Amino acid sequence: TQRVLTGITTSGTPHLGNYVGAIRPTVRASRLPGVESFYFLADYHALIKTSGDPARVQRSTLEIAATWLACGLDPEKVTFYRQSDIPEIPELTWMLTCVTGKGLLNRAHAYKASVDKNTESGAEPDDGVTAGLFMYPVLMAADILMFNAHQVPVGRDQIQHIEMARDIAASYNHLYGEHFTLPEAAIEDNVATLPGLDGRKMSKSYDNTIPLFVPRDQLKKLIMGIVTDSRAPGEPKSTEGSALFQLYQAFASAEETAALAKAYADGIAWGEAKQLLFERLDREIAPMREVYEGLIQDPARIEKTLKMGAAKARAIATPFTQRLRHAVGLRALD
Ligand code: TYM
Repeated sequence: TQRVLTGITTSGTPHLGNYVGAIRPTVRASRLPGVESFYFLADYHALIKTSGDPARVQRSTLEIAATWLACGLDPEKVTFYRQSDIPEIPELTWMLTCVTGKGLLNRAHAYKASVDKNTESGAEPDDGVTAGLFMYPVLMAADILMFNAHQVPVGRDQIQHIEMARDIAASYNHLYGEHFTLPEAAIEDNVATLPGLDGRKMSKSYDNTIPLFVPRDQLKKLIMGIVTDSRAPGEPKSTEGSALFQLYQAFASAEETAALAKAYADGIAWGEAKQLLFERLDREIAPMREVYEGLIQDPARIEKTLKMGAAKARAIATPFTQRLRHAVGLRALD
């Protein structure tokens, strides 16, 4: 069997980028025969970005859990859990930290971006950078390696983290024997990076997201606000670099996408193209939105589901961690 695993950081409201990059491909993969899936809420990761805002982490945890369930994951069939319910994860993080080169972490994009920004503005390189941000890739490696995942469906922005998880796994295996599977990123080509309202990558940090489950009228309003160029109706439009087109492509079939490309060449008005995108999106989202709205009213039910998932996850994590403790020379816990 192939193990597929992915997580979402509980630092905000899930958006279309999370859906096409992680949720949709993973839910699909979980229905294939011979696949064992692990989905989780990365709430330890959330502390890195949202320290000082506990209410936000809690709200986001509920929203992201309800989103996974509304998008069709079957918690009876898959292992669906909250990262912080698995104490073995931070324990493994430490064991991995001790086989991870500091130089490897120096090269992580997220850390480097902070350092570069500081350097440009004349500040100290590490100003405002927490050790948590620096360690981010090791925590993520622990998530993946704990369950020996083969495939990790993610958006393109996470590829480097998965390569680092491989490197870290290889270091551990080299020192202590073959305990870890080397994971691979699974990327959907046509939706590798979904653009946001302003054409940049859709991201919580750019404030350009389209939340997956906004009410229908708000979805329409957001879509009408997507940036386009100033070409008038009747003028041919370019699909290249068009955020609107890329969003459509991520939801439509090949035939529908080809039809929109033709409409672009024929000079479709932007308003009309946006209407097409709205209808296509809403067609896919509406049934899930209804389920979501029910679930979000029932936190107790979600909590119960997560507890069940934690028990399943720990049934794997606890004995595996004992083996890993033994391998590095620590006493196995009683
Ligand atoms: P996060 O929470 O930033 O994003 C969750 C998933 O959504 C994908 N994604 C996108 N995909 C396409 N287009 C976009 N605009 C877009 N924006 C976000 C991300 O690539 C990701 O797959 N570190 C991870 C969470 C994590 C994790 C893990 C993932 C923690 N441990 C172990 C996999 C395995 C993160 O912050 O993702």
